[in-house]
Amino acid sequence: MSSTSPHPSPAATPSDSTPSDRATSDRTTSDRTTPASASGERPVAVVTGGTRGIGLAIARDLAPTHHLVIGGRSADSVADVVASLPSAEGLVADLADCAPDGSLATALDALTQRLPRVDVLVHSAGILRNGTVADSPVQDWADSMTVNVVAVAAVTRALLPALRAAHGLVVTVNSGSGLTATPASGAYCASKFALRAFTDSLRQEEREHGVRVTSLHPGRVHTDMQRELVDFEGAEYDAGSYLDVDSVVRAARLAIDAGPDASVDLISVRPRGWRPDPGHTP
Ligand SMILES: NC(=O)c1ccc[n+]([C@@H]2O[C@H](COP(=O)([O-])OP(=O)(O)OC[C@H]3O[C@@H](n4cnc5c(N)ncnc54)[C@H](OP(=O)(O)O)[C@@H]3O)[C@@H](O)[C@H]2O)c1
Repeated sequence: MSSTSPHPSPAATPSDSTPSDRATSDRTTSDRTTPASASGERPVAVVTGGTRGIGLAIARDLAPTHHLVIGGRSADSVADVVASLPSAEGLVADLADCAPDGSLATALDALTQRLPRVDVLVHSAGILRNGTVADSPVQDWADSMTVNVVAVAAVTRALLPALRAAHGLVVTVNSGSGLTATPASGAYCASKFALRAFTDSLRQEEREHGVRVTSLHPGRVHTDMQRELVDFEGAEYDAGSYLDVDSVVRAARLAIDAGPDASVDLISVRPRGWRPDPGHTP
């Protein structure tokens, strides 16, 4: 686990933050029941899968105003991202290792002792296993469920006291595959359907504790995962026909910037030219 000094005072100035950064900052300091400013600290955002793709883009977007906890399984990758952000530390753990005494549990133990509050928890880490039911090894199902669902529950559970203390927000980066299942991606779709069920249960359970829960469902996004999928399909990679990560960041911002009276329960964001096609996932 690498770390910088834990959540020092905000360094962002109005000139280096976007309107939405400032909106978040204002809202965080004025509207929440236990404002982060009371202790002179930055609001805290934990982002799993913060080393690449969508998670990295969300972390960078929050960096001007938030103290970031960057989740990833490679200590070097996490350290590189942490070093690039004004206020950040790492959560190095393999989400496939959810055993009670495994690396995730150990890392979460240490983190929860350091962080009394978490304002935003973004679950972006995820894996894609392609293949039909006939062709997919059972291990693909186990891995998909472990990383995409069980680990999400484990991280959320560990951070719930800190989320409740902040009246925080949980965002799960789900998928179009969590809304519609398609062939040759059963393990992935099943895990994302299960993830949506998890968020629906959590939202209802945590309402009384002031924790909000958003299920974010992007269509195809221009990231490493998309390259993997297109490679599996044997198709040509066409970056221009997929969502840019910034569009997913903006969708996440809708939930993060929502007023205290509102809960953004589910967001579906697709490439503009997208048409439903059973052959296209995620
Ligand atoms: N790309 C798309 O088209 C698309 C569409 C809809 C939904 N999504 C969802 O969006 C989320 C992010 O996808 P992405 O496209 O940004 O993926 P990506 O570029 O492949 O990045 C995946 C991230 O998850 C982390 N991760 C994977 N397995 C892990 C493990 N066992 N333990 C810890 N961290 C692990 C990776 O860390 P390392 O750097 O250590 O590998 C990386 O930071 C996923 O949940 C995905 O299902 C993606």
